Amino acid sequence: MLALANKIAIVTGASSGIGRATARLFAEEGARVIVAARRRAELDALVAEIADADGTAVALAGDVRDEAYAKALVDLAVEKFGGLDIAFNNAGAVGPMGPISDLSLEGWRETLDTNLTSAFLGAKYQVPAMIERGGGSLIFTSTFVGNTVGMPGMTSYAASKAGLIGLTQVLAAEYGPKGVRVNALLPGGTDTPAATFKTPESQAFVENLHALKRVATPVEIARSALYLASDASSFTTGTALLADGGVSINRT
Ligand SMILES: NC(=O)c1ccc[n+]([C@@H]2O[C@H](COP(=O)([O-])OP(=O)(O)OC[C@H]3O[C@@H](n4cnc5c(N)ncnc54)[C@H](OP(=O)(O)O)[C@@H]3O)[C@@H](O)[C@H]2O)c1
Repeated sequence: MLALANKIAIVTGASSGIGRATARLFAEEGARVIVAARRRAELDALVAEIADADGTAVALAGDVRDEAYAKALVDLAVEKFGGLDIAFNNAGAVGPMGPISDLSLEGWRETLDTNLTSAFLGAKYQVPAMIERGGGSLIFTSTFVGNTVGMPGMTSYAASKAGLIGLTQVLAAEYGPKGVRVNALLPGGTDTPAATFKTPESQAFVENLHALKRVATPVEIARSALYLASDASSFTTGTALLADGGVSINRT
């Protein structure tokens, strides 16, 4: 039996990187998937790829900072597929980096909106739909940055992603009695278009930070998302799951 047979999932940030790999994996494992991001052409290509592999997906393009979009994604899941079981709230951006004195309030707010307020908006509409189904699994993509490692120059990113862990804990406690599990997933460095390590020197530096001496492929992170989405993690809620190649414990 497939891990997500008969499940209905929303995946945000599905036009690229970790979200794209996760949408594909969820569909391979039997879920019907709503794929979300701003770039419509990338989403359409993903839907076609999933269909070619005998999966089911539908795209709705929009901005996760927009409350109407958060609602529309859930409405689509309900209208098209009959409900919602899984939400992988994964869309995110590093935002402006640098010394705090150089950072603008506008850049700070944009990063918080993209990474944290989007999660609040998503959960606001996803949780009631999951309760309707008798439970579900809500996942937020956080990071080791701001949780186990302080990376200079990444203040707004770290603060927004650490905020997701507080959101996770409260929602897990609030909706555990209704069967909704809520977890954060904390990837280590992952080879996606968003990765900040673009030169050979910075790539080598970042790889060396990890105990495994490499960064992850997107599908390696997708497999951890699958674990949190599926019944394999049925007694796991309120956690911050590190899938970080040991970057948090490594000191060499
Ligand atoms: N790569 C890493 O090393 C790493 C490590 C730890 C955590 N993470 C986290 O993992 C998540 C995925 O990142 P990634 O590395 O896969 O990056 P990516 O390839 O750049 O993907 C980011 C995704 O988020 C979407 N997105 C960004 N802003 C959005 C907005 N306002 N509205 C809708 N969608 C938006 C992008 O789609 P559009 O541009 O089409 O809107 C894209 O699909 C992020 O939350 C990131 O912080 C990444």
